[in-house]
Amino acid sequence: MASNFDVTLNTDDKAMSMEQLAQSLQEYDAVCPCVTDSMPESLFAAGDFKASIIGNYGVGYNHIAVDAAKEKGLVVTNTPDVLTDATADLAMTLMLMLARRAGEGERQLRAGEWTGWYPTHLMGSMVTGKTLGIVGMGRIGQAMAEKAHFGFGMKILYHNRKPLPENESRRLQAEYCAELTWLMSKSDFVAVHCPSSPLTKNMINEKTLAYMRPESFLINTSRGDVVEEKALIKFLRKKLIAGAGLDVYENEPTVPQELIDLDNVVLLPHLGSATEEAREAMGMRVLDNLNAFFNGEDPPDKL
Ligand code: DGY
Repeated sequence: MASNFDVTLNTDDKAMSMEQLAQSLQEYDAVCPCVTDSMPESLFAAGDFKASIIGNYGVGYNHIAVDAAKEKGLVVTNTPDVLTDATADLAMTLMLMLARRAGEGERQLRAGEWTGWYPTHLMGSMVTGKTLGIVGMGRIGQAMAEKAHFGFGMKILYHNRKPLPENESRRLQAEYCAELTWLMSKSDFVAVHCPSSPLTKNMINEKTLAYMRPESFLINTSRGDVVEEKALIKFLRKKLIAGAGLDVYENEPTVPQELIDLDNVVLLPHLGSATEEAREAMGMRVLDNLNAFFNGEDPPDKL
């Protein structure tokens, strides 16, 4: 990077304030935020920036007012593909931990409360052979479907804006559910993989959760606001669903105490893409976009 650009790094890994981001748009040709660097519409109101490209380090870009940025002539890019498997692997981790009560078991052992093997100790449920409902069949949803179907013999249902091409749904033996509520009622595990948008905000809410069964589990590795947290807490507390595995939250890094207090949830701190391999590849993908842009080409991941 240093060979092509003069670079100023945010070395303390802390989220940048609005003032810092506003200043960086005035000072630099390119600004590369990540999910914690919030760039709302108001940030772009001034216009007349030195920056001409925002190279987001991440696939999700709900923290950037993309339309407002574009209106001021900025190009915005993201980093798809390179974190697909890392995120799908984490969704699988949550599914397995939930079903096998791994978080509960680990907490028990570390607290010195394990008294030895007995036949009914922390009995969970099988993952192999169960039905997985995927909400949002983009890259990450499809990667999870692949792992779950070929690795664990799971039956795949999915809800998406449109069905997969025929050959792809046949390969995964995946069944398209036009109605989200149908998928929720038929799945043992519901995994949320759709991006955050006005259309998907609180899509998993009191009404849709009501279709899940008391023995079914919810998993979310997409964005916190797709799930209405208050409603989820209510369903978990009343045991109207069996449990939830969450990597993302409505107001990160705040996690409601009600969730922390529940045993039937696995809570991770937004680790979806947190592997050495994925994070390095994300950085390289940001660079690919910047290099293309400053060479006068269309960046490959232009939004
Ligand atoms: C992503 O790429 O969207 C991850 O959640 C980190 O931003």
